[in-house]
Amino acid sequence: MKVLLIGSGGREHALAWKIAQSPLLDELYAAPGNPGIADHATLVALNVEDHAAVIAFAKEKAIDFVVVGPEAPLVAGLADDLRAAGIATFGPSKAAAQLEGSKGFTKDLCARYDIPTGAYQRFKTAAPAKDYVRQQGAPIVIKADGLAAGKGVTVAMTEAEALAAIDDCFDGAFGAAGAEVVVEAFLDGEEASFFCLSDGKTALALATAQDHKRVGDGDIGPNTGGMGAYSPAPVMTSAMVERTMKEIIEPTISGMAKDGNPFSGVFFAGLMITAKGPELIEYNVRFGDPECQVLMMRLKSDLLPILYATATGTLDKVEAEWRDDAALTVVLASKGYPGAYDKNTPIAHIPEASEEAKVFHAGTALKNGSLVATGGRVLNVTALGKTVTEAQARAYALADKVEWENGFCRRDIGWQAVAREKV
Ligand code: AMP
Ligand code: GLY
Repeated sequence: MKVLLIGSGGREHALAWKIAQSPLLDELYAAPGNPGIADHATLVALNVEDHAAVIAFAKEKAIDFVVVGPEAPLVAGLADDLRAAGIATFGPSKAAAQLEGSKGFTKDLCARYDIPTGAYQRFKTAAPAKDYVRQQGAPIVIKADGLAAGKGVTVAMTEAEALAAIDDCFDGAFGAAGAEVVVEAFLDGEEASFFCLSDGKTALALATAQDHKRVGDGDIGPNTGGMGAYSPAPVMTSAMVERTMKEIIEPTISGMAKDGNPFSGVFFAGLMITAKGPELIEYNVRFGDPECQVLMMRLKSDLLPILYATATGTLDKVEAEWRDDAALTVVLASKGYPGAYDKNTPIAHIPEASEEAKVFHAGTALKNGSLVATGGRVLNVTALGKTVTEAQARAYALADKVEWENGFCRRDIGWQAVAREKV
C-alpha cells in the first residue's frame, strides 16, 4: 500500500514510525512532515490547505490511502475532497469534524441523544451570556465555540472571571472562534482521555491516556497543548471504559449517523470522571498530541490495516492488541513556551532509540544541515515500562541525554499514576 500522511508534529512522527513497521506498506510519504518523520517517510512540501494540490500529488504517486493527523485540514474538508477524488482517507468529513470544530454542535448532540455532559447554553451576544452566568454562579466554564488552538476555554472560579472571559470572546480574543460562546456547568472529578475508532457504524475502543496540560510541575501555570502523557489512565477502569462506550461513544456514533453526519475516524473523548460517572467535556476528531505517542508505543497490532478498516467501513473485521506495559512521554519545549520563545535554537544531540524508549520530533527543522527547534513543543521523549514509574524513569533518563540548551521539560509527568503505584 502507498500511504500519504498529513501533518508535521510529534503525533505524526509516532504515526509514521508505527505505519512504517507495517508489512502492508510499500511506500510512505508525509506532507509536510519533519526531520524525525524523514526517517520513515519521503517528505513532500505540499501546502495542505491546497486540497487540489494534495489530490494531484496523491494521483501522481498512485497513493492508496491518506491518513490525516491534525484537526485543521479535517475541519476544512480535506477528507471529503480526497474521498470525492476516490482516495481512501482516514479522518472524518467536514460535517462530522464539527464535533471538534464547534463546541455548541457537540453540546446540542449530547442534549439530543442523552449523552452525559455539563448543562450548558449557547450565546451569540454578551449580555444574555452574562445574565446566565449571574444566574448560575461560579465556578462555571466559558468556551469559545470554534477552534482556538486550545486556548478558548476559561474555567472561571469566580463570576468576575467568567464575565471577563465572555468579554474576551466577543471582543475577538479568539477571532471568529469566539463569535459564539458556550457557557457550561463546571464538572468536578478526574480527567481522562479515551480513544476510540469508528467507521460510522462500528466502534473499536483503543486505549486510555492522561495528559498534563499545565506548563509547570504540580500542574500549575498556563495551559499548553500538553506537556506529557501516559497510558493507560488508572481512573479508566474496564468498568469505566464500558460505561463510556455505552453512555457516550455508542450514542454519538448512532446519533451522528441518524443526523446524516456519519463519523469515520478517531474519537478523542475528553472525559471528566465525576461522582455520577463519565461525562463528556469535549470531542476531538484526531489523535491527541502527545497522547498518540504513548498509544503508538503500546499498540502491538499493525496500525495500518486498523486505520484502513476505519476508513473503508470494515472496522468489525479488525482488532487492536495492546502491550500490558505502560507508556509515558515527556515533552521538551522551548524555554518561554507557552508564551514567546526563541526560534531556530540548535539541538546538538538526540540520543539513539531502543526497544523501550524513543524520541519523537514535534517542532524541529533542518537548517543548513543542522537540527533546530522551530516550535513551542519540540521533542517527545517516550518510553515503555512495566509500570508508569518504570516508564517515567526511562523517559527522563533518555530526556537527560538530549543536548538542547534552550529546552525545558516538566519533571513530574505521570505523578498521579506514580503516586497510586506507591500504595
Ligand atoms: P478543552 O480546551 O475543551 O480541552 O478544555 C481545556 C480544559 O478545561 C479541560 O482539559 C478541562 O481541564 C477544563 N474544562 C473544560 N470544560 C470543563 C468543565 N465543564 N468543567 C471543568 N473543567 C472543564
Ligand atoms: N494533548 C491534547 C490535544 O491533543 O488536544
